[in-house]
Amino acid sequence: MNLHYQTNDKGHLAIGGADALDLAQEYGTPLYAVDELRVRDNYRRVYQAFSQEYKKFQIFYAAKANTNLAVMRILEEEGSGIDAVSTGEIYTALLAGFEPERILYTGNNVTTHELEFALNSGVRINVDSISQLQRLAELPGSDGLKISFRVNPMVGAGHHDHCITGGELSKFGIMEQEAVEVYNMALDLGFRPVGIHTHIGSGILDPEPFKLAVEVLMDVAGRVHSETGVNFEFIDFGGGLGIPYTPDEPLLEIETFAREIIGLFKDKIYDYGLNNPTLCIEPGRYLVGDASYLLTRVNTVKNSYRKFVGVDAGFNTLLRPTMYGSYHHILVVDKPDAVPKENLDVAGNICESGDLFARDRLLPEVKEGDVLAIMNAGAYAFSMASQYNSRPRPAEVLVKNKEVDVIRERETFADLLYKQNLPVRLLK
Ligand code: LLP
Repeated sequence: MNLHYQTNDKGHLAIGGADALDLAQEYGTPLYAVDELRVRDNYRRVYQAFSQEYKKFQIFYAAKANTNLAVMRILEEEGSGIDAVSTGEIYTALLAGFEPERILYTGNNVTTHELEFALNSGVRINVDSISQLQRLAELPGSDGLKISFRVNPMVGAGHHDHCITGGELSKFGIMEQEAVEVYNMALDLGFRPVGIHTHIGSGILDPEPFKLAVEVLMDVAGRVHSETGVNFEFIDFGGGLGIPYTPDEPLLEIETFAREIIGLFKDKIYDYGLNNPTLCIEPGRYLVGDASYLLTRVNTVKNSYRKFVGVDAGFNTLLRPTMYGSYHHILVVDKPDAVPKENLDVAGNICESGDLFARDRLLPEVKEGDVLAIMNAGAYAFSMASQYNSRPRPAEVLVKNKEVDVIRERETFADLLYKQNLPVRLLK
């Protein structure tokens, strides 16, 4: 079993040392509960694995996985940078205390207005297209700007088609074969191109495609360096590091992974005479995915054509099972280690048939009133949540050594109407 969780002396699920049943009782359900030390451990494990092999190493946490300010503060304290994909993420990261130079903005299909915002914020800009480059060049203050490019290495990987971002179907990045031309264009426009970037997809447990992309990107960097004279200050291999979601999925052996990536990287910087650039990666899921649980209470057990366990959360709180068919392991919080008894469908409270957290899942006996913990709810969970079906979004708590802080209040009905205006002619 590669899924990580802890139990207390009552045999209940413990999150940051607190009893998950008490958390559900005290703060209500559905509830996101984040284990602070797990986030810190995850960060340190990755940092350690890479930096012991190569000192010039920087992590840019992919904020899209979880943009809660407290989570971002924790990672800022640990020394992380931020991979921001929107101006909203730049804004949030700045508010969370990240220095602009520790924020790398990788937008796609961005407006000129967004480029202007990024430029004026002083963050690093990672350019995704020639159009973006040309529009950036026209903005006052862009002369001499340090930039990087996202390259599509024609290698892609990921847990679902929607999460593969390299290859010929991908909308991201510039083509590897146009890289020399594009770096030359950047030089002609007065930029200082100092970085190169790729991100091939998300949820990668097999290191092979990632390694292949590293080789391709390094070859592109070598070519750009020798043909344009660009000296790379940093080379960024993106995120995508997977975590197990099912009990028998493998762990990505992070030390071996780091050693292999850095081995390839060092060989290539030597071959191409690149001058010890900083190696960057952008994990999101790996840092925060397994640090949170979605606690939800069973309100209905229904024997229909199938046996349904109905809970008080829905795909508006955790979209991944519905959107990608993703497996999320489910524990009964007062008996996480109980022997599974029967196959159940765990259904949410949204009015759509696709609103299922699990189909035919072998679970211990579950009764109305039980609290379930949906695991791996730290990444792409709250950040993809919505108010669909007019359901206020849940609260989030952060737990460390049994100490609990509410880091996001539960929304109310008033929040459902936030920013709506009723035209005077429609007033009753
Ligand atoms: N860097 C860039 C440029 C990215 O686009 C992403 C993710 C990452 C880094 C971080 O990837 P990670 O290490 O978290 O795999 N909603 C999907 C995942 C979409 C990821 C999009 N980009 C899911 O729930 O699986």
